[in-house]
Amino acid sequence: MSQTVRGVIARAKGEPVTVENIIIPDPGPGEVVVDIEACGVCHTDLHYREGGINDEFPFLLGHEAAGIVEAIGAGVTEVAVGDFVVLNWRAVCGQCRACLRGRPWYCFNTHNAKQKMTLEDGTELSAALGIGAFADKTLVAAGQCTKVDPEASAAAVGLLGCGIMAGLGAAINTGNVGRGDTVAVIGCGGVGNAAIAGATLANAAKIIAVDVDESKLGWAKGMGATHTVNASEGDVVEAIRNLTGGFGADVVIDAVGRPETWKQAFYARDLAGTVVLVGVPTPEMTLEMPFLDFFSRGGSLKSSWYGDCLPSRDFPMLVDLYQQGRLDLDAFITEKIGINDVEAAFDKMHRGEVLRSVVILGVSP
Ligand SMILES: NC(=O)c1ccc[n+]([C@@H]2O[C@H](COP(=O)([O-])OP(=O)(O)OC[C@H]3O[C@@H](n4cnc5c(N)ncnc54)[C@H](O)[C@@H]3O)[C@@H](O)[C@H]2O)c1
Ligand SMILES: [Zn+2]
Ligand SMILES: [Zn+2]
Repeated sequence: MSQTVRGVIARAKGEPVTVENIIIPDPGPGEVVVDIEACGVCHTDLHYREGGINDEFPFLLGHEAAGIVEAIGAGVTEVAVGDFVVLNWRAVCGQCRACLRGRPWYCFNTHNAKQKMTLEDGTELSAALGIGAFADKTLVAAGQCTKVDPEASAAAVGLLGCGIMAGLGAAINTGNVGRGDTVAVIGCGGVGNAAIAGATLANAAKIIAVDVDESKLGWAKGMGATHTVNASEGDVVEAIRNLTGGFGADVVIDAVGRPETWKQAFYARDLAGTVVLVGVPTPEMTLEMPFLDFFSRGGSLKSSWYGDCLPSRDFPMLVDLYQQGRLDLDAFITEKIGINDVEAAFDKMHRGEVLRSVVILGVSP
């Protein structure tokens, strides 16, 4: 028996999202239906709405979510009905070349549900990042569910499902920030502020937050930034060098993803330092730089897909740190909203007014 629930749909490029009835099939082999409790609004949802990811409209948006497993399909052993789970978009296959080499966080063949959710007229939906959780319920692959401490708040831990994990992981996994390092983070939205929280967890000695928006810099201080730089008030590279003895930072994280911010990251880094790109560029962007600078400055230039996370390893650990008061996930929640408020949340994101808006569904926020 399929069921009908509400979901937030992007029907066409650039058009406001609508709340519509969607059909959730019964879970097939390896699939799970999850009763969604909370789902954060990520910049990537807006990218989908703007046609920036692909043209497979209509989309069922939402992908930073936590909820309760309502039903499981044949052969599902990873989770049971009633489990409290955070959804992920890295259900590793265990068989691709990355998995076989012991690097499952790069898995090149991650699993999603095989069946499609649809509109009432039968139109198949593309679920954002294979999740689609601005909905009362969603259908995912069992491996997309990571069981965590059921005492934790769904609105907070659901954020680990995408942007906050991407930022934390950009610092602690990809950037390998360690005790005593100097770190700079360019762009302090949800992702950049999570990178700052990650650098704080890793005991970085100096954490420099860079943004064009003073309110974002205020949030960054709360996450553990030791210094702030307003990028609209002067040369970012010079400011970071001045704060690091004239040398640049050990690790610079670009959480904006534009050619100009990446170049700032490149030049604001100490010799042999690391640049981590976690912001996502758009297809028309190009980069031109003196080739010799790549050689003579050494170090490593990395991109961070989903913070190089392994959900089964990282989500329960980070939920524990949250429960112990060592990782303030609640500080990322600027507002809790209803399912009808996603379009307004996009506007607020555009105006820079929020770190995260979180849609609360079901009965237990
Ligand atoms: N790599 C991944 O796996 C992954 C996962 C989730 C999101 N992302 C990407 O990360 C990026 C950030 O996401 P978000 O949710 O934090 O977005 P956001 O819009 O909340 O934050 C972006 C921040 O960058 C600041 N900014 C813009 N231009 C700037 C400039 N020139 N210099 C300094 N700061 C500048 C803005 O003021 C804002 O605070 C997006 O590109 C998003 O798609 C990547
Ligand atoms: Zn794999
Ligand atoms: Zn996201």
